[in-house]
Amino acid sequence: MELKAEQIQSNWEKFIGFINTYISDPRKDQLIKFYTKHQDEIMMMPASHKKAYHNAFPGGYVDHVNRVIEGALEINKVWCNFGAEQNYTTEELVFSALNHDLGKMGEEDNYAHIPSEDEWRKKNMGEMYKFNNSIAYMSVPERSIKLLVDNDIKLTQNEWLAIRLHDGLYDPANEPYLKNYMPELKPRTSLVFIVHQADLMASRIEFEKEWLPKFNNKEIKKDNFKVKNKSKNSKTKALSSIKSEGLKNLFSEL
Ligand SMILES: [Fe+2]
Repeated sequence: MELKAEQIQSNWEKFIGFINTYISDPRKDQLIKFYTKHQDEIMMMPASHKKAYHNAFPGGYVDHVNRVIEGALEINKVWCNFGAEQNYTTEELVFSALNHDLGKMGEEDNYAHIPSEDEWRKKNMGEMYKFNNSIAYMSVPERSIKLLVDNDIKLTQNEWLAIRLHDGLYDPANEPYLKNYMPELKPRTSLVFIVHQADLMASRIEFEKEWLPKFNNKEIKKDNFKVKNKSKNSKTKALSSIKSEGLKNLFSEL
């Protein structure tokens, strides 16, 4: 599985479009500034650093986040149709989905994914990144919140909980919030479950797209990570917006 250079560029434009459409000032301005500052990294980041996980290819992060935002908006409609209490806003829904995995970028001055210089592993394994082990452990949801707070981007209580709990019961650390049978201790907003469902659905679909064809022997090629039919215009535009030489080299290979 891979994305063409022009898909990476259009995914980025869609990602920024969600901020412009759904987030109000001052947070709209703050988020645009933050994401523009880290555009080189975030636009090219995989959703996971390990190949066996979902969307572990260049541009996979934004592709995943866009899918979670669109999924959350659709899943929200289902919850509404079934009578869910509307005690959260569409901005809170999109803000939570938009930033749920932000912690995957690592630290602002020390990114988690380092473009690999191992030509053999890049060519034969599709491993375009290696994980930066100099970063201290912190869970992704907690680092997502930390990055926002560090940039003075305020979160509502609903957003804080939706980001913090987006892995649902896949993370045992969430049990005190989600595995509690006392009514007064249960989450008071369904936003938490909607963002989790959207993330679960997106990750599952990404797994299916990546792996099911391989299990069915329909797609086994050693050069899976080479892309044909590149669109020169879009690629040139995308390349011109990247400042980092390492990422530029990585992008030019797509
Ligand atoms: Fe996610």
